[in-house]
Amino acid sequence: MSILSLHDLTVRYRHTVAVDRVDLVVPEGQIVGLVGESGSGKSSIARAVVGLAPVSGGRIALDGRDLPRRGRRRPVQMVFQDPYSSLDPRMTVGDSIAEAIPHRLGRAARRSEVERLLHLVHLDPARAGHRPGQLSGGQRQRVALARALAGRPEVLIADEITSALDVSVQGAILNLVRDMQRELGLSMLFISHNLAVVRYVASRIAVMYQGRIVEEGPTAEVLADPRDDYTRQLLAAVPTGAGGRRPVRSAESGCD
Ligand SMILES: Nc1ncnc2c1ncn2[C@@H]1O[C@H](COP(=O)(O)OP(=O)(O)O)[C@@H](O)[C@H]1O
Ligand SMILES: [Mg+2]
Repeated sequence: MSILSLHDLTVRYRHTVAVDRVDLVVPEGQIVGLVGESGSGKSSIARAVVGLAPVSGGRIALDGRDLPRRGRRRPVQMVFQDPYSSLDPRMTVGDSIAEAIPHRLGRAARRSEVERLLHLVHLDPARAGHRPGQLSGGQRQRVALARALAGRPEVLIADEITSALDVSVQGAILNLVRDMQRELGLSMLFISHNLAVVRYVASRIAVMYQGRIVEEGPTAEVLADPRDDYTRQLLAAVPTGAGGRRPVRSAESGCD
């Protein structure tokens, strides 16, 4: 895993400066939570990193080197909000995951790699033969995560990956993210508009407001002693007690 760093990053659309000279570091093996209201520029940062939004200024680097924009191997992989549109309904789960493996493999090796990836996201290997229509939203999001991991990325970006899910399965996905970080030492930029979600998984938090990072630091410090007015407002909006409670543990993912 690696260090992702943004230096003075600006993303401009025709009429909008969506990201305004942002500096942000995702340290090796850590989850950095990026939180802020809708329209604050979070997705624009994510999309710029993976080459889907225009970079009009600044640098994006991995271990100090400019991120390669082309090539089959993509060191940064992204998972999106909507697990219903991110998978081809005609393909089996196994084929969808295998398609994301960047190198060619023989049939047996391919099968065992798909099994390994399903195992990483706590899905039964028998799911390989299923189609997305047979899966719940939570299970689809696990498949999307497996696809992202298939490229053995150095950094993973998760953009609102629990926002489209029923509240009852959000906790299981958040626990999976935490487990994956522990097991794989993933470096991850974890984006959500929901501070309670971000603080559950992230060791550091960056707060975004109108295209700028207004506050950044270790999660516990930012939450205990927010410096910025906007961070205080976000905190005030989180129901008391919700953040301290652990999402329900699900050992078996079959239930979501
Ligand atoms: N493709 C686009 N073209 C024009 N404006 C966009 C585009 N994508 C996002 N924006 C604008 O950029 C700003 C930031 O959006 P976005 O990065 O999606 O924020 P967030 O993910 O925090 O909700 C918003 O004002 C949004 O309307
Ligand atoms: Mg967004």
